[in-house]
Amino acid sequence: MKILGVETSCDETAAAVVEDGVRILSNQIASQVEIHARYGGIVPEVASRQHILAIIPIIRQAMTEAKVTWDNLDGIAVTAGPGLAGSLLVGANMAKAIALARRVPITAVNHLEGHIYANWLDNHDIDFPAVCLIVSGGHSDLVLMRGHGDYVVLGRTRDDAAGEAFDKAARILGLGYPGGPAIEQAAINGTASVKLPRAWLEGSHDFSFSGVKSALLRLVEGGKIPSKTDAAASFQQAIVDVLVAKTVAAAKEHRVRQILLAGGVASNKLLRRRLTTDSPIPVLIPEPVLCTDNAAMIAACGYYRFQAGKTSGLDLDVVAGLKLA
Ligand code: KG4
Ligand code: ZN
Repeated sequence: MKILGVETSCDETAAAVVEDGVRILSNQIASQVEIHARYGGIVPEVASRQHILAIIPIIRQAMTEAKVTWDNLDGIAVTAGPGLAGSLLVGANMAKAIALARRVPITAVNHLEGHIYANWLDNHDIDFPAVCLIVSGGHSDLVLMRGHGDYVVLGRTRDDAAGEAFDKAARILGLGYPGGPAIEQAAINGTASVKLPRAWLEGSHDFSFSGVKSALLRLVEGGKIPSKTDAAASFQQAIVDVLVAKTVAAAKEHRVRQILLAGGVASNKLLRRRLTTDSPIPVLIPEPVLCTDNAAMIAACGYYRFQAGKTSGLDLDVVAGLKLA
């Protein structure tokens, strides 16, 4: 079964073709990061307009690379939320137009569920139950996955998401945008010598990252950091300590057979290494290019939705605040 995935929830226009939920035939991404970097963050109106320019060429490229035609495409999976409404609309309307013109079935995918399914790409054998840590620009969610499409949210952030915290810390340190890769890069030449707080929120699977960000801001404003590189290394360490400890604790509590890492922050090397070494339970992490926003993960998720008979009509609509469960 060949599925075309379409993803436009934020600032990447992406299209991919995935076979049977696991084999990537193509994975095209048109990034707008350089355009938004000028403003230090994503400008929603600019993002929507860029998606309109990029969507048709990127779908063409994905289909050409995968050597599929409209006639041997079995379905379209499109991100319906969460994300920026104007951005989501471009992908959803494109998918609906194709579905109408070519009579291809369509399924609406939750972007966060898509991030989780990046773990299935190139991977058939994942045991349930699993605990998934989804860490992106807008979310830090700990989710118990009992089977395909079956989720219980165990915890989420009470303030900033992990990626958002990285982005804000990078701005405080003047390291540029997007912040996660900038902090990771700066941290390579630093040591984690700056004392920063960790919000453990004992007894809860929730996260909180605004305290560590504010602590960093106070130290920077007071001229109390030895160097930007040490501050970056310390901040990265503080975030990773909490993400790893709370994920492993949730996995043990629920006696799961697998830990899955997902979302843009999952491309962070320290997080990948620490989670793998600290967990007694097997950990799966998609390769970095499949952690940040892409359409292959949407197509992979779409495959399992089609298998479960979950299709959408042409009244499919986007929901900016769509929840996982
Ligand atoms: O999943 P994603 O690509 O888009 C959303 O759905 O939000 O995640 C983007 C977030 C940004 O906040 C970015 O700074 C962060 O992921 N990120 C990283 C790294 N690469 C991207 N954070 C830490 N380390 C990285 N290497
Ligand atoms: Zn994402």
